[in-house]
Amino acid sequence: MKKISIAIDGPASSGKSTVAKLLAKDYGYIYIDTGAMYRALTYIALKKKVDINNETALDNLLKKLSITFKQEENGQRIFVNKKEVTNDIRLPNVTNNVSTLSVHKKVRATMVKLQKNYGKHDGLIMDGRDIGTVVLPNAQVKIFLVASVLERAKRRFKENQKKGILTDFDTLKEEIKQRDFLDSTRKVSPLMQAKDASLLDTTGLNIAEAVERIKKIVNEKINN
Ligand code: DC
Repeated sequence: MKKISIAIDGPASSGKSTVAKLLAKDYGYIYIDTGAMYRALTYIALKKKVDINNETALDNLLKKLSITFKQEENGQRIFVNKKEVTNDIRLPNVTNNVSTLSVHKKVRATMVKLQKNYGKHDGLIMDGRDIGTVVLPNAQVKIFLVASVLERAKRRFKENQKKGILTDFDTLKEEIKQRDFLDSTRKVSPLMQAKDASLLDTTGLNIAEAVERIKKIVNEKINN
């Protein structure tokens, strides 16, 4: 079967990584979570007390890091310089600082270079904010996943509960709105639907339904 590249973009908690993981499993594709890469840099910067507003210092730090993924049955693990950071990068402190770090032009250029390298594989699913517009502009399938703020806050609340992270629901809603604002108003490659992307609103859809809608689009591409 023909192997293609699939770009999935969308705002925070729109379900990108959940559907991307399932699609990767179904098609036997490689999955790259680019948000995890920005999160990994944020985690290390906070740990090493590198100012998240200092573009050059962050870019120098990133250039010294080796960010790698390991695909496993029940998800993906991420390593920085061989040390596992899978859980650390989901901590609230990282989540609340990652959009600030992600505005920097130099940091984005280095990240995009790393991501384009992964993009050389056939049979790839990558999710993020600028995949269809910048990282994989030639992806055969581009999906722009959205959902209402309320729905996304509910999903994030449940996820956090499962992980034992206690969060106030209204605070979570405000944090999602703030990340939407920062991600879509930044100057360099903001969150934006690519012209040739299919819009999918997952408000009211369950995971299986969202995956089915995307598979229909993917199968059409593969079979044509
Ligand atoms: O998908 P996520 O919530 O794990 O992403 C975390 C942050 O990383 C997001 O708020 C913005 C940034 N990001 C980005 O700027 N570009 C990407 N391709 C992926 C993520």
